[in-house]
Amino acid sequence: MFKVISNEQVGPNVHRMVIAAPRVAKARKPGQFVIVRKADGAERIPLTIADADATAGTITLFIQAVGASTKRIVATPAGESLRDVAGPLGLPTHLQKWGNVACIGGGVGTAVLYPLAKALAEESNKVYTVIGARTAEQVILADELGEFSEEIFIATEDGSSGRKGLVTVVLADMLAGKLPKPDAVFAVGPVPMMEAVAEMTRLHQGFGGQARQAAIPTIVSLNAIMIDGTGMCGGCRVTVGGEVKFTCVDGPEFDAHQVDFAGLRNRLGMYREHEADADEKCKLDQFLQSHKEAD
Ligand code: NAD
Ligand code: FES
Repeated sequence: MFKVISNEQVGPNVHRMVIAAPRVAKARKPGQFVIVRKADGAERIPLTIADADATAGTITLFIQAVGASTKRIVATPAGESLRDVAGPLGLPTHLQKWGNVACIGGGVGTAVLYPLAKALAEESNKVYTVIGARTAEQVILADELGEFSEEIFIATEDGSSGRKGLVTVVLADMLAGKLPKPDAVFAVGPVPMMEAVAEMTRLHQGFGGQARQAAIPTIVSLNAIMIDGTGMCGGCRVTVGGEVKFTCVDGPEFDAHQVDFAGLRNRLGMYREHEADADEKCKLDQFLQSHKEAD
C-alpha cells in the first residue's frame, strides 16, 4: 500500500498528489512514469512522475480526473492509501545541451512537461515555456515552471490570460524569429496539439518569407493506452518511423517527426464508449455512497 501524503486541487479536475513511494522516489529519472491502481482489480492508470524527493521518499503526481478510475484516485484523501504504485517505468528523457529549448504544454499535459523542462534547465539549456489552456483558470504550474524558465508564454483560447489562441500562435512567433528561436522543441498535450507542433517544426518558413528552413528537433511524450506497462500486452503500440514501438518501454518520448499521429488518435478513440459507461457507473456509485452516508 502507498500512503497519500497530500492531495490538493490545483485546477478544474486536476489534483497534485504526493505519495509515499520510497523506492520509486530514489530510482526515478525525469520522463519516467508509474502505473497506479486505487484498489485490487481496479484499472491501471499510467501517470508521469512530476517530481520526487528521495530523502522524504515521496513522489508527486498530477492527475486529471477525466474517467471513472482517475476520479476514484483523486478522491483518496491524505492519510489513506493507494493499492499499487508500480515503477519507475519507461525510458528517461534524453538530456543534452541543445541551447534554446521551447517546452510546450497543452492543458493538463503541462504536468507531464514539468519534469522534462526542469531537467532540460538543469542541463544548462535556456528553457522558454509555453502553456496553453482553454481559460486562465485551466493554466497550471505557471509559477513552478517560472522558477527555471527564461520566459513563460501563456496562450488561452478565450484570451483570459496571455495571448488569445492556441500554443501554436506563440510557436509561430518563435519560428519567425519574433521570440527566441528554439534549437529543440518538447511538446506534451492533446494529440492534435503535438501533431500541429510537429508539422510546424518539420520544415518551416524562414522569417519574412525566406527559404524554407531545416526541421527543428522535436520530441513529444505520448499518452498511449497502457495496460501492463512492461512491453508484454502490446496495448500501447504506436508506429514511429514506420516501425511498431511500445510507448511503455520504447518511450514515452519519441521524435515527433516520425510519429504516426493518425494511428495514435484511432487507438485512443477505441475505448471511448467503454470509458463513458465506466464514468456513468462511477457517478452512480458516488450518488449511492452519498445517500448511504446521509441516512
Ligand atoms: P485541451 O483540449 O484543453 O487543450 C489544451 C491546449 O492545447 C489548448 O488550449 C491549445 O493551446 C492546445 N491545443 C489543443 N489542440 C490543439 C491543436 N489542434 N493545435 C494547436 N494547439 C492545440 O487539453 P486538456 O483537456 O487539458 O487535456 C486533455 C488532453 O490532453 C487529453 O486528450 C489527454 O489525453 C491529453 N494528455 C496528454 C498527455 C501526454 O502525455 N501527451 C498528458 C496528459 C494529457
Ligand atoms: Fe502493455 Fe506497453 S502497456 S506493452
